[in-house]
Amino acid sequence: MVYYLAEHDICQKNLNEFGRDLIFGFQREKKFINPKYFYDKKGSELFEQICLQPEYYVTRIEYKIILKNISELMNYFVDKNVSIIELGSGSSKKTKIILKYFLDRQDNKLQYFPIDVSQEMLFNSTKKLYNDLPQITIYPIASDYFDGIRRAKEYINLNNYKQDSKLILFFGSSLGNLEPNDAIFFLKTIRTGLNHNDFLLIGFDLVKKKEILESAYNDSEGITSRFNLNVLNRINRDLGGEFNLDLFKHLAFFNEDKKRIEMHLVSLVKQSIHIRKINQTFNFQKDETIHTENSYKYKLEDIDYLAKNSNFSIQKHFVDDNNWFSLSLLSPS
Ligand code: AVI
Repeated sequence: MVYYLAEHDICQKNLNEFGRDLIFGFQREKKFINPKYFYDKKGSELFEQICLQPEYYVTRIEYKIILKNISELMNYFVDKNVSIIELGSGSSKKTKIILKYFLDRQDNKLQYFPIDVSQEMLFNSTKKLYNDLPQITIYPIASDYFDGIRRAKEYINLNNYKQDSKLILFFGSSLGNLEPNDAIFFLKTIRTGLNHNDFLLIGFDLVKKKEILESAYNDSEGITSRFNLNVLNRINRDLGGEFNLDLFKHLAFFNEDKKRIEMHLVSLVKQSIHIRKINQTFNFQKDETIHTENSYKYKLEDIDYLAKNSNFSIQKHFVDDNNWFSLSLLSPS
């Protein structure tokens, strides 16, 4: 069964916010764009393709970690009736493995709440998932993560559904796209929606050799480059921008001091770009960059620090044999 809990069109509000964020980011001395704007329809498709590139190990390794450790993971939920909430769209193979295990354990009774800002992605992935696992009761929620968790929680309480535990899934190391303080704020906010017998299963990309990291963000097919440049297309389409994508190039490198991959767009010439719907013109020097994304990489002690400062305890770091990625199970402390 699928129950659509989504809200309807928030398009205009989103456009106004996009315009405001862009002005804020472009008026700074070092121009930047919030990476959340990568994910329009095209950007989301390109991201799916990134996940399939041989150089981008994140998705592959996280999947292997789940496969290898699923039985041990399930031991944390013995005799518990669990509802699953996933942050980000849950069409993936990873989510399916976990859902199947819980279905088997809970006599085919399982509530699953995928939460995603992109209504289209969410509904498509819900349809696919429902075809594959029709026994699950799915409640897709099109909203931001915090509001989504609040609504899932309300729904669980409202229905008086007998559940002993919530498991929140947050795959793909997306926390790494937040600045360290924002990551703590994010985890703290999630923590406020949880009870003592709930869990958070969250992916963290670990610090590793610079060459491996840099090739993951400079794949040989050029998909990451297209993903990065696509944000300019989005400005052109949604805000009436006049960017010529041939006059910018993709740049991604590992900043060792800050333990993060930085993505930028480099202006190849001196140019002025008008953006009609916000009535602004921005000047770019030759070689000036727009900072489009940070992707923080962690040591296990960094994860422990994040958890401690957001009132979580680490139950276990499930790590692959090469120590490239950790899927960490956290519970409220
Ligand atoms: C979504 N996020 C975890 C990806 C990352 O690795 O930081 C986004 C990405 N950017 C370029 N490649 C992938």
